[in-house]
Amino acid sequence: MALQEIIKKIQTKNCIIEVYGLGYIGLPSAARLAMAGFQVVGIDKDLAKLKRLENKNLSESELFLKNEFVEAQNSGLLTITDSSKPAEKPKVAIICVPTPIPTSEVSSDIYVKNAVESFLKNSKKGDVIILESSIEVGTTDKIKDLIESNGFKVGHDMGLAFCPERIDPQNKKWNLENIPRIIYCSDDITYQICQEIYQNINNANLRRVSDPKTVEVVKSFENAFRLVNISFVNELALLCDKLKIDIREVIDAASTKPFGFMPFYPSAGAGGHCIPKDPRFLLNSAKKFGIEFKTLQESLLVNSYMPTYISKTIKDTITKHGWSNSVLVWGLSYKPDVEDMRDSPGFRIISELKKLGVDAVGYDPYYKKDLKQKYIIENHLDANTDLEILQSLDNESIKSFGCICVVQHHTKIEFDLRAIYKNSKVSLIYDCQNRLEYNTESKTKLMKLGH
Ligand SMILES: NC(=O)c1ccc[n+]([C@@H]2O[C@H](COP(=O)([O-])OP(=O)(O)OC[C@H]3O[C@@H](n4cnc5c(N)ncnc54)[C@H](O)[C@@H]3O)[C@@H](O)[C@H]2O)c1
Repeated sequence: MALQEIIKKIQTKNCIIEVYGLGYIGLPSAARLAMAGFQVVGIDKDLAKLKRLENKNLSESELFLKNEFVEAQNSGLLTITDSSKPAEKPKVAIICVPTPIPTSEVSSDIYVKNAVESFLKNSKKGDVIILESSIEVGTTDKIKDLIESNGFKVGHDMGLAFCPERIDPQNKKWNLENIPRIIYCSDDITYQICQEIYQNINNANLRRVSDPKTVEVVKSFENAFRLVNISFVNELALLCDKLKIDIREVIDAASTKPFGFMPFYPSAGAGGHCIPKDPRFLLNSAKKFGIEFKTLQESLLVNSYMPTYISKTIKDTITKHGWSNSVLVWGLSYKPDVEDMRDSPGFRIISELKKLGVDAVGYDPYYKKDLKQKYIIENHLDANTDLEILQSLDNESIKSFGCICVVQHHTKIEFDLRAIYKNSKVSLIYDCQNRLEYNTESKTKLMKLGH
């Protein structure tokens, strides 16, 4: 069947959508499309995750879609499996697999290629592949070559699109349904097919661009924009520390300018699977043309320096006052109220403090002990790292720490943190996000990044 004949089938939902990768990106899209009446097959390589999902056992970060997910599964429109199967109906693959920071051993597109290859094994003329993972410049063209090496002419008998996901976990205002998307499509029919599909995701709020490299650059540029500004404000925080002025006051005052300014706030650095990674895609692309892209290089350096600076400041302070040499690193996920611990500054602070001879222990209500090895790999720590994590926040265990270093202010433990401060349970609290208010009644010394 050629691509033209497919549109009607997609319009009548007489097709199969295979979503590859049931993670932060793939699972919500799979549930949503199934709820819209599509027959969806969710495909993942992680067998433990598949079993958990089959048992409708959702993790904390997935709970927001529990009703949709359970309903979609019960209706039979969403099935979950580890591999694709041949089908007579037209198929659309949506690729939502990870894209790691490239190294000499691993290329960033390793999982994307793998997923596309699996799809191609059981595909036929008229099928469509939509890439949603964040990919390096040039990857869509590589995937086009891969499809064509399997005997399909892209844009004629198989459609190819790149529509990067822009989701911001925990963002209460902007979500899957209302974030506009950018898209490249190999041809007009594929664009119409994508409009039919994204109609059920974000009301087809799509901006089509003409070249896949444009979309690839846009995706990395958006996240590079965040990295550069986060690093900029963090470097400003170092200056405010020296000037003894409050960076929050600086930012709030600058924010009164109604144009040309956008506030970013201090932190131990950007983490997660996107912001520290996607700018490297731009850097790699620039390198091929002999462009150094110094803004990005310096921003990445500042980002990785923040845990070093914070650890040294804490070590110097506890040494100067003769306080207990043990520090509780509070909040290990990469942002508040999420359980994603990839590339997270909290882990870097633990290892920097240890290098300085401090007994550093982590605490995060989202930390799962059985995922310790995963966290170690995702944070590029030595395989034998002795990662000590506090399991509960009782009075006795808190008393044994000289300092709490607050990396993330998780809502569910914010009350505990404030009580620890108010009741002077530790000698020092170091707030990497400069959010705690001074309490003159507390005997705990409060230090804030950028104050
Ligand atoms: N997490 C975010 O907030 C976010 C936001 C925007 C874009 N992205 C991008 O989306 C992509 C996916 O990120 P994520 O956070 O959802 O990752 P994730 O790790 O949460 O999920 C990816 C899933 O893909 C599975 N997988 C790996 N290889 C596979 C294969 N060949 N076939 C089927 N499944 C496979 C993994 O087992 C995992 O469950 C990445 O490129 C990321 O940069 C993520």
